[in-house]
Amino acid sequence: MSIQSVEEMNALKAAADAVAIALREMQAFAKPGLSTKQIDEYGYEILRSFGANPAPKKDYNFPGWTCISVNHEACHGIPADHKILQEGDLVNIDVSAELDGFYADNGGSFILGEDHQNLQPLVDASREILHLALANITHGVKISALGGFIEKQARQRGFQVIRNICGHGIGRKLHESPNEIPCYRDFFIRERFRKNAVVAIETFISTGARYVYEEEDGWTLSTDDNSFVAQHEHTIVVTDDQPIILTSENGI
Ligand code: CO
Ligand code: CO
Repeated sequence: MSIQSVEEMNALKAAADAVAIALREMQAFAKPGLSTKQIDEYGYEILRSFGANPAPKKDYNFPGWTCISVNHEACHGIPADHKILQEGDLVNIDVSAELDGFYADNGGSFILGEDHQNLQPLVDASREILHLALANITHGVKISALGGFIEKQARQRGFQVIRNICGHGIGRKLHESPNEIPCYRDFFIRERFRKNAVVAIETFISTGARYVYEEEDGWTLSTDDNSFVAQHEHTIVVTDDQPIILTSENGI
């Protein structure tokens, strides 16, 4: 969507605060021995305390309130009782919700406890690259140029980007135009970022894979070569200067 009024901005900010605080609290709550379902239920209670409705369920009938993806899973992991977190796991929590008709989306990867798999550099790269990318977004910048920037930053750090999952427009639905904001330079995408546009910018940085594949559960997207993927995501408003980070409440 394109923001047209202070009222729309305030409503969107309220939705963004709900998802950002839920994500922050879920990350703090996560510990070895808990199931991803327990963390999901914890997040649901926080979202509901704001009056927010989990978007994956509302818009796609996803079998969970949030997406929790572990290790070789890149995104859309289904929270489950049998998925017990372990020390050193690479965990991604992605929270999106609707509040009073407005949507926000916020995600982040982190290492649970001791970094047994030596993945902190991957996580740090993903977060840093997201913020470098955000600093490059202003009215008139080509979406393809941003993707090229993200891929270049990843390669400079010895990583790759996933090419078949990406950021997106957001606001009145979870996913809206522009439908694809990739992490590589896609010359077929000719659109530019426009002032007042609301978009969700996401990094998908990998230790090797360039594509992810759907698991048999019909939702989870994973690498097929044992490589790891870290993601960080903020919902922002484009301006003619620096973007406004709506989901800044959690400090990702
Ligand atoms: Co998300
Ligand atoms: Co998103």
